[in-house]
Amino acid sequence: MKLIGTGSALPRKVVTNDDLSRFLDTSDDWIYPRTGIKTRHIISDERLEDLAAEAVRKALENAGVSPGDIDLLICSNVVNEYLTPGLGCIISAATGITCPSMDINCACPGFIYAMDIAENYFLAGRVRNVLIVCAEEPTRMASWEDRSTCVLFGDGAGAAVFTRGDNYKGTILRAQPDPSKIWQYRPLGATPFDTRVVSGVPLQMHGREVFRFAVTAAVQDINAMLQRNGMGMEDVDYFMIHQANLRIVEGIRERINAPAYKFPSNIRDHGNSSSASCPILLDECNRAGLFKSGDRLMFSAFGAGLQSAVALLEW
Ligand code: COA
Repeated sequence: MKLIGTGSALPRKVVTNDDLSRFLDTSDDWIYPRTGIKTRHIISDERLEDLAAEAVRKALENAGVSPGDIDLLICSNVVNEYLTPGLGCIISAATGITCPSMDINCACPGFIYAMDIAENYFLAGRVRNVLIVCAEEPTRMASWEDRSTCVLFGDGAGAAVFTRGDNYKGTILRAQPDPSKIWQYRPLGATPFDTRVVSGVPLQMHGREVFRFAVTAAVQDINAMLQRNGMGMEDVDYFMIHQANLRIVEGIRERINAPAYKFPSNIRDHGNSSSASCPILLDECNRAGLFKSGDRLMFSAFGAGLQSAVALLEW
């Protein structure tokens, strides 16, 4: 398959570290050096599905295709207002897309998981164009009294359109199943047959262990992808790393010994927007004209599960 268009949309409200310190025992002096985050966009008066629809419209326009050209929509999302239908259906209705859609919940690596699914549809000859949209509002998952998690996140949506071609060079997905490191419960009521009531628990995260997992998994994934393609580090033009924490990105960069200019980053202004982070970064770089034809982009993402993924794409 081949990437032909990107789009993204962010909430209007920008929240600084100083804004957070007005109601939380935290500071820019603590947050910025540990995370690289200065500001994040947070949903206030928008709805996630509206941001997602905006990202989709921009991606379709950028790709030069219309809603009727899309044969499959894959939506990556962890939390939104609807339990059913899937967010992909809501986005389809808002944008005039009528093809089948499916939602996946693969947390932060969701964009790469979605590309893997899409590629398999192309390989099976079942589609001409696939739209991927990643829409996330992790700021509604964390407790706003838990300073160790809520300061990390921002909301947003990113989308990408793929058509037939051979610019996508494949994916490696990996899992080290351990739901105890990042998890959240939604509330569930009792039934006449099961009297257990599940109380909601906001997002819980073991920051240090997740940090270690992220760096180790990404380095292994990137090396595995290079080896599979007979490539060296110098053959990759840009590493598109999930924007979870600038120190994680730096840790990966140092271990693979690659120069800083190959690591585009927007975490300073966005925080961690889960699976939306990679396609938002991709769209911002695309619209800034960063990539030239033939550039090789390596995507790497990691998160809850624990799961990680890497993908190679030629521009
Ligand atoms: N402001 C001020 N102090 C804070 C704080 C905040 N926002 N968050 C935590 N602290 C405090 C802690 O209470 C602790 O205080 P104590 O020593 O008095 O107990 C101290 O800072 C150190 O906490 P710790 O959690 O050990 O800090 P850390 O150096 O591991 O940094 C993270 C915390 C979350 C920034 C870091 O672990 C991290 O980035 N992990 C990865 C998270 C991530 O990216 N997850 C998503 C992956 S997809």
